[in-house]
Amino acid sequence: MNKLTILCFFLTSFVATTVQAQDLSPEQASGKVVFDKWCEPCHGRVAGGLFGGLGANALPGTSALGVKYKGDLPAVLEDRTDLVPIYISTVVRNGLYGMPISRKTEVSDTDLDNIIAYLTRPH
Ligand code: HEC
Repeated sequence: MNKLTILCFFLTSFVATTVQAQDLSPEQASGKVVFDKWCEPCHGRVAGGLFGGLGANALPGTSALGVKYKGDLPAVLEDRTDLVPIYISTVVRNGLYGMPISRKTEVSDTDLDNIIAYLTRPH
C-alpha cells in the first residue's frame, strides 16, 4: 500500500465513524440513554486492560465478558455485532451469573426495546 492509499483508508474510517455516531434512529438514541444509565456502569469501556477491558480496574460486565470470550468477541457490549433481541431481553429480565435482574420499574419494556434497538444497530 502506498501512502495515499493508507491516508484514504484512515480518512474513510474516520468519516464512517463520525457518520455512524450521528446516525442513530430515535429508538436507538433513546436506547443509548437508557443503556448509559443502567448498563454502562458494568458494561462500560475501560481504558487500558486486555481484550477491551480485562484488567485490575475493569467493570464487572466488561471484565466477565472479557474472561468468557477471551477476546474472540468484544468485551464491551456496545461493540458486539452478534447480539440478538431475545438473548438481550432474556438476560436483562432473568439475570446471568454475576448480572442482576433489571425490573420493569427500573428498565420498562419500552426502555428494553430501545436498548435492544441500540445494541443490535448495524455497525
Ligand atoms: C451489576 C453489573 C451489571 C449490570 C448493571 C448489567 N450487567 Fe449485563 N452482565 C453483567 C455480567 C457480570 C455479565 C456476564 C455474565 C456471564 O458471566 O456470562 C453480563 C452479561 C450480559 C449479557 C450477556 C452477554 C453474553 O455474551 O453472554 C448481556 C446481553 C447483558 N449483560 C446486557 C446488559 C444490559 C442490556 C444491561 C442494562 C439493562 C446490563 N447488562 C446491566 C453485569 C451487569
